[in-house]
Order: sequence, then C-alpha cells, then structure tokens
Amino acid sequence: MFSRYKKTGAATPKPANNAPAPAPEAKTEAAPATAAMRKPAKAPAEVVAQDKELKRRQRLEEVRSALHHRLLDNLNLGALENAPEADLKAEIVAICAEGLEEMSIVLNKDERQTLHAELFDEVTGLGPLEPLLKDETVNDILVNGPNRVFIERDGKLELTATRFKDEKHLLRIIDKIVSAVGRRVDESNPYVDARLKDGSRFNAMVPPIAVDGSLVSIRKFKKEKLGIDDLVKFGAFSEEMAAYLQAAVACRLNVIVSGGTGSGKTTTLNALSSFIDNSERILTIEDTAELQLQQVHVGRMESRPANVEGKGAVSQRDCLRNALRMRPDRIIVGETRGEEVIDMLQAMNTGHDGSMTTIHANSARDGVSRLENMIAMAGIEMPIKAVRAQISSAVNLIVQASRLQDGSRRMVSITEVTGMEGDVISMQEIFRYQRLGLQPDGKIIGRFTAAGVRSHYSDRFKQWGYDLPASIYEPAAAE
Ligand SMILES: Nc1ncnc2c1ncn2[C@@H]1O[C@H](COP(=O)(O)OP(=O)(O)OP(=O)(O)O)[C@@H](O)[C@H]1O
Ligand SMILES: [Mg+2]
Repeated sequence: MFSRYKKTGAATPKPANNAPAPAPEAKTEAAPATAAMRKPAKAPAEVVAQDKELKRRQRLEEVRSALHHRLLDNLNLGALENAPEADLKAEIVAICAEGLEEMSIVLNKDERQTLHAELFDEVTGLGPLEPLLKDETVNDILVNGPNRVFIERDGKLELTATRFKDEKHLLRIIDKIVSAVGRRVDESNPYVDARLKDGSRFNAMVPPIAVDGSLVSIRKFKKEKLGIDDLVKFGAFSEEMAAYLQAAVACRLNVIVSGGTGSGKTTTLNALSSFIDNSERILTIEDTAELQLQQVHVGRMESRPANVEGKGAVSQRDCLRNALRMRPDRIIVGETRGEEVIDMLQAMNTGHDGSMTTIHANSARDGVSRLENMIAMAGIEMPIKAVRAQISSAVNLIVQASRLQDGSRRMVSITEVTGMEGDVISMQEIFRYQRLGLQPDGKIIGRFTAAGVRSHYSDRFKQWGYDLPASIYEPAAAE
C-alpha cells in the first residue's frame, strides 16, 4: 500500500491485539435472506429483524475497531491534520479496502460508507462524538467515562449507543480538543474549558479527579439562535411578555436573566438583545463566546484562563473594567458569577443603562441573594443595606428562566425591582407561569398570566414611545 501519510517505519499492518476475528455470523450475514429463512418459522418477523440488526451492528463495531487500530498504527496523524480532505478520504478508503480484504470481510455499500465516515471522523474530528455534534436536535452532549454518552434533546437526557473504545480513546479525543486551543489536561491539570471549532462550549475533567473515567460536557453551539418569535412559538413566553420585554429593553432597563443550569438563560439574553437599537455600541463579555448579536456595532470579548505556566489570565472583571473605557452604550456580560459583579452593578448604575447579564438562581428573590453573596465573596466590605441599595438601584428587571420537569423551558416569572423598603429590596412580579395540571404523558399544563399590577416603569415606557395597553397587565380569567 502506498501512503503519503504513512508513519515512517510503521510495521506491516496486522490486526490489532484486541481486534477480534470476524464473528462467525459475519459471513452468514452476507446473505441475509438465507439467514432469515433459517430462523425457526414460529419466530415473529420483527424479532428476527431485531436480532439481525443487532448482530449487524456488533459486526460493524468489531470491524470498525479493528480498522481503527490499523489506521492509527499506520497513519502519521500529524501529517493528516493538514491533508486535503479528498486525499484523506481516499487514503481511508484504501486502508479500509485492504483491511477488509485481509480480514476476509464483505460489507455492503452502505456499511462501507458508514465505516469510512466514522473513520474520517475519528482522524479529523471528535470520533464517536462527531455524529452527535452534527445532529441539530442535540443540545448537550455529556460523557461519563468511555461507555456512557448522554445527550439532551427537547430538555430531556437520553443515554445513547455511542461508546468510546476505552478510556485511552476518550482521553485521546479530549487531548486533541484541548491541545488545539493551546491547553493541556493531565493529572496535574485535571480540568479544562475550551471552545470547539464550531463554537460549542466544552469542558472536560479527567481521572483521578473524575473517578470513573473522564467527564466531558459539551453545550452545542446553535448557528440559528432562537429568536423572540421562536421562543413565543415554543411557549417559552407569551406575546404580552414579549411586548413588555421589548419595551423594557428598548427603554434601557437593566435586565438580569436568572435561571438554573441549561434553563435557557443565554438563549433568552441573546433573544432580548434583538430589541436593542442598531445605532448603539454594545460590548459583550463572556467566558466562552456564545452570544450572537445581530446589531452592527458589537465588540465581543472572551476571558482567558491562565496558561500552563499559570500566566496570562484575563478575567471577565478585567474585560469589564477595560470595557468601561471603550465608550459602550450597553454592556452585556454572558454570566456574572464572581468578582465582576461589583463592576457590573457599577456599570449599570453609571450611565450604561440597558446593560444585561445572567445569573444562576432559582427565583428573582434568590437572584438578589446571589448578587449579595457574590459581592461579599469578592471581599467588598459594605454594610448589607448599602449592598442592597446598590443592587436595587442597578437592577430594574429580573427575568426567571426555568427548565420544567417535562423538559420544556419557560420564562416562569418577570419581576421588577422597585426600590427599597427599609432594609429590604422591594420587587413586584408582573408576569408568571401558572401550572394548572399534568397530562397523562407527563407534559405540564399551564399558562402565562399577568399578576395584575401595572409596571413601575409605565411612565418611562410611555415617554420612550412604548404605550403598552393596560390590558397586558390584567391577569388571565380563573379556570
Ligand atoms: N425555550 C426554549 N425552547 C427550546 N429550547 C431551548 C429554549 N431555550 C433554550 N433552549 C435550548 O436549550 C439549550 C440550553 O440553553 P442555554 O444555553 O440558553 O442555557 P443556559 O441557561 O445559558 O445554560 P448554562 O447554565 O449551561 O449556561 C440550548 O441548546 C438552547 O438552544
Ligand atoms: Mg449560558
């Protein structure tokens, strides 16, 4: 076999140690019709079909694994990184053909194509994860060691049939991702954050800290972000709430989107940003750049952790401080989770109205406590009343996102911060999601309703030309 990418001095191809000999049924499988006929006549047709499919998959898996070993043993992966796609594909086809012949295995055209695609993914991409990355319906990919790969689809977690060959295989894929962004992950550096080429957010933790094998979490990047209309259509919030939010964002209220993990905070923040006027200068600051603003004048910043020597870190706080010198009209921080909170509140208080961020909290009230805690943990020594006064004058609106037990993501509450009463921050809920019951299939029955109070910012809305009808604040009739 001639190969431009062959390692120099590579041994003659031999089946890898653990490459199993083709299963005996492999050959009989080549004639599926006869195999099916040999089944006892009383076996139901679908059982036979299932059995056949299972065996076919097992066989493909074995062949794939054997060829994969062969490929890794014989290819110079370094050279392949820069090889033209067509060359690489041709190379893989050649190696496969040779390997299959040596193993005396006959595959049909479809099987061969699947095999070529899998091996191509293995060499150029993220191996077994590649089909999941390409699947538009998958939101998250979560790997718990080599044998358990979960995905999140429609708000629900599912176990997939995807497997890595072993922990070493999984580690090789992790290493490939992190070395591409100039990081390292090993025993002394056991966890890492990175962004994949397609923009997806990636986190990995390896043994011994990850006890049962490496843990990987990927939040898929969606090119087509959900817009306000999509969110209304999906039932994430109502038309009335959308109209209210449009007024709030356009009138430059400072907004915090609060929610649990994966509840749709970033998606909501991104959708809300569409209400910002095109003439404004917006600066975004994130740990992993996920936001996709549609305006013309957007400056995007991404913080950076320290390199392997522990140097070069640029925190969200550093970016935020610098952003204040960059004449922003609005600042958007992807997620406020630490010391940057104080600069964020100050920015909101000092002429950058209309700034937005997200926080991790389960309710508006909880969100305010989170802000207080973050301030305390940042080492700012201020009496609690002063802290609360700072929060209440900075934050105008808290939008609570939630992933409900049936997997649906909804904006369960929109709450205004109206000031201080004594030592307490006063708030009023304007809209909420009301649960009415449960369908037999587990889907939640519910509706959005106004809480029955007029917005504290009604006058401001009016002055800015957003004359919202009083009816949007009226609660839905009792069921
Ligand atoms: N209303 C919705 N309907 C359907 N899918 C949604 C909705 N909101 C968000 N999603 C999807 O859910 C996933 C998680 O959303 P998002 O990244 O906004 O969550 P998050 O709260 O920011 O998560 P994290 O806490 O990890 O930052 C995304 O893939 C997104 O496309
Ligand atoms: Mg997020």
